[in-house]
Amino acid sequence: MRMLKLILALAAAGVILGQVGTENREASKSRNQMLPHFFNSAPAQVLVRACGDCHSNHTEWPWYSYVVPLSWWITRDVNEGRRKLDFSGWETYSLEQRRDKLDSMCGVISTGRMPPRSYIAMHREAKLTDAEKKAVCDWIKEETIGASDNVSKNPMVLGP
Ligand code: HEC
Repeated sequence: MRMLKLILALAAAGVILGQVGTENREASKSRNQMLPHFFNSAPAQVLVRACGDCHSNHTEWPWYSYVVPLSWWITRDVNEGRRKLDFSGWETYSLEQRRDKLDSMCGVISTGRMPPRSYIAMHREAKLTDAEKKAVCDWIKEETIGASDNVSKNPMVLGP
């Protein structure tokens, strides 16, 4: 009985402590139900589905993301992920940056570095099939090649 009480107390403390640092989550979620239209095409939607939790303001925070120590780890991943690549902030990137980021997206999915394996374990829907990887890389190639001769004619290439 004592052991059970101790476990329950620890679990409760974990849930309470897990809230620390999560205050901004709701704000950043509602800010962005809309991503730039650039992400509307079917291949881009694959990226939104598999990468959006960490690389946009679209993050869905599961219940366990509010429990320490997972809450710290997940918050850090999301902050770091968004800093490197943020679909929601796409319009703040220069054309060069967009092109670089697109190229590296194809790179990381081809090598399987992203989405991180620990994330796929909890989100089966984030696993990309070979056909999806190919569709994403083909789309990226088309967009980025198109961009090099279109920049002067159309400054809106590559979004937002
Ligand atoms: C669980 C959160 C998470 C998910 C899901 C995720 N990423 Fe990441 N991503 C990160 C973090 C954290 C970093 C920064 C650390 C690193 O580079 O490993 C990162 C870095 C990156 C980088 C920058 C790499 C570099 O060398 O600077 C790219 C590009 C990237 N991710 C693309 C993707 C793509 C594409 C997907 C979806 C197929 C994806 N990520 C899914 C967390 C995530």
